Amino acid sequence: MMTKLRILGYGKALAQKPITNDDLSKMVDTNDEWIYSRTGIKSRYVTIDENTSDLGYRASCMAIDDAQINANELDIIIVATMTPDKFTPSVASMIQARLGIENANIYAFDINCACSGFIFALKIAAKLLEPGQKALVIGAETLSKIINWQDRTTCVLFGDGAGAMIVSADENAQSAAFYLHTINDDQQVLFANGISLDSAEQRYGNIQMKGQEVFKFAINAMSEAIIKVLEEADITLDDISLIIPHQANLRIIKAVAKKMNIDLDKFYINLEKYGNTSAASIPLALADANDQQMLGNNKKIIMVGFGAGLSYGACLLQI
Ligand code: COA
Repeated sequence: MMTKLRILGYGKALAQKPITNDDLSKMVDTNDEWIYSRTGIKSRYVTIDENTSDLGYRASCMAIDDAQINANELDIIIVATMTPDKFTPSVASMIQARLGIENANIYAFDINCACSGFIFALKIAAKLLEPGQKALVIGAETLSKIINWQDRTTCVLFGDGAGAMIVSADENAQSAAFYLHTINDDQQVLFANGISLDSAEQRYGNIQMKGQEVFKFAINAMSEAIIKVLEEADITLDDISLIIPHQANLRIIKAVAKKMNIDLDKFYINLEKYGNTSAASIPLALADANDQQMLGNNKKIIMVGFGAGLSYGACLLQI
């Protein structure tokens, strides 16, 4: 069953401190050439004193302005994050309070689906929205909190940030197609421990991964998800103007393009500036693509992501 979704506005927030590859080379045994050639990343933004809710709030204010609505018109707020400020309340609830929303219908909650989170959150919004209702869907992360800055195999990859989107359920809009899937991560190829019962040393964990396993998974996952949403919408790649992939690694995107015989120009890529911002990466890319007048005019786009879980998914929308 396809849901009719209209995008009303976009917003983004960058964390305060840019950190270049050269900056990182003063912290760990790495260099710009290694990082850029292996990932396509040149720089990333890292928070100084803003938490996930602060970044999400800033992105939300921009999306609300862009949609030219009042925050009280919102019915649902969903935040996709794996780095919330607190265990409770949710980041979404904190953002609702800061926006001062007093709409009697409003409800807010977070979801955690790692780097695929924004696609999963959008699907949930699509299922929950009643005709005429509006949702604020946010991807926000402060991954710098869970990065081991002494581990060169992970610290070079990630950044902080937030992206937000206002969507409405509109009978006159085109249907959105979704595909979501999680497969068993038996080998623990990508994880960050939470609070452990076992020992004090293991109470909090940093991001850990088996990079090459994640790399292979990502290529297959993104290719499969793109095919699935095209099948559901009953259209072909020729009908798609832009693919907004999760911004993890340029080599992964290039490999998907090659495997599927898609022109690389069809992929929107901004990871050079931001690194992998997990759940924020797709909405940040959408906001940048919108700033560059690449969206609108009834274009069909595919957003496609993958991450811990192992999770992956795609959304095909006409915008
Ligand atoms: N700087 C310099 N050298 C580094 C380094 C760094 N930042 N990180 C690792 N190395 C070294 C390794 O120690 C290894 O050295 P060795 O050959 O002496 O053992 C060498 O570089 C090659 O490491 P390897 O892990 O094989 O590199 P790779 O080509 O697989 O690239 C990743 C590593 C992480 C860039 C790549 O596997 C990747 O992008 N995977 C996907 C990760 C991802 O996207 N995760 C998030 C998913 S949401």
